Amino acid sequence: MRPTASNSTFNFKTYASDRRGMIETRLEKYLSHNEPQKLWDSMRYSVLSGGKRLRALLCMAAAEAFGPNDDVSELVLPCACAIEMVHAMSLIHDDLPAMDNDDYRRGKPTNHKVFGEAMALLAGDALLMLANEILIDETPAKVDRVILLSVVKELARATGAHGMVGGQVEDMNFTGAFDQGHTNKEFVDEDILESIHRRKTGALITFSLWSGARLVEANERQLIDLKRFGEILGLAFQITDDLLDVTGDINTLGKTPGKDEASQKATWVRLFGIDGSKQKLKELETEGLGILENNGIEIGSAPALNELLKYAIHRVN
Ligand code: IPE
Ligand code: IPE
Ligand code: MG
Ligand code: MG
Ligand code: MG
Repeated sequence: MRPTASNSTFNFKTYASDRRGMIETRLEKYLSHNEPQKLWDSMRYSVLSGGKRLRALLCMAAAEAFGPNDDVSELVLPCACAIEMVHAMSLIHDDLPAMDNDDYRRGKPTNHKVFGEAMALLAGDALLMLANEILIDETPAKVDRVILLSVVKELARATGAHGMVGGQVEDMNFTGAFDQGHTNKEFVDEDILESIHRRKTGALITFSLWSGARLVEANERQLIDLKRFGEILGLAFQITDDLLDVTGDINTLGKTPGKDEASQKATWVRLFGIDGSKQKLKELETEGLGILENNGIEIGSAPALNELLKYAIHRVN
């Protein structure tokens, strides 16, 4: 029997690997070779290179939580894959010399190191549009088109100037701010940092949860609860990323640690230290789990959402 989230002996490892299998197979299909070959090679290189698939898993888990039966995967897999394409685009562009200038990603040379900067930019552009195409074309006809349109619009908002791209601009604006003879807090306080994190990382993570639930027709109340849960998970995820940049090693992380300090990034660790960051994560974990327990996410799939929050915080890469 396929492991479902409502089994009393819920095994997160099996649950996640089962769904990751579906996600990988589907991504392969959506990225089967095409031309120009170098462009598709570059797109495939970054999308099909591992990754935790957290955002796709969140989308599927939310759909399972609110969907009519266990087998809602078919309804949301195109959306889950579209999210992973947008995410891969964000990583390709984030690693460019003009941004974070990183050489390693997912244990391999970054896209621009292999394909050149021009192709890396274009592969990101193409992935962004392919994500939209797949979401619109491949979402099964059973899904109401008005609902699908609302999901397409939210993806645009979560990705663009209101969300991730806006957050990346804020990230760039505050890079180096610590180094200009002022104390940290004169330049970057908790509110600013939280706003950067919520936009650059939280927006797509929140969308992942929200879209899975929206596509299976969760009600307004459930969507509001899930959005709050997503905001908490998204912030916790980026604080953990900031922490891992200090505490992780290259082999486990698959990317170069210590880069945030070296490039004077505005991170949670920079502002609150390792202990302060861990403390904030504890608070966010409690708050997130509380939402699942108390607020109407009365669901078979709470164990999966529960475990995904813990995974976002306690992961090692
Ligand atoms: C890395 O995201 C970029 C951030 C938003 C911090 P992930 O840590 O989810 O990257 P992959 O997909 O697992 O490689
Ligand atoms: C990345 O944040 C956020 C996005 C890609 C949108 P980081 O710059 O901290 O991510 P890593 O550490 O390079 O994965
Ligand atoms: Mg960055
Ligand atoms: Mg980066
Ligand atoms: Mg980082």
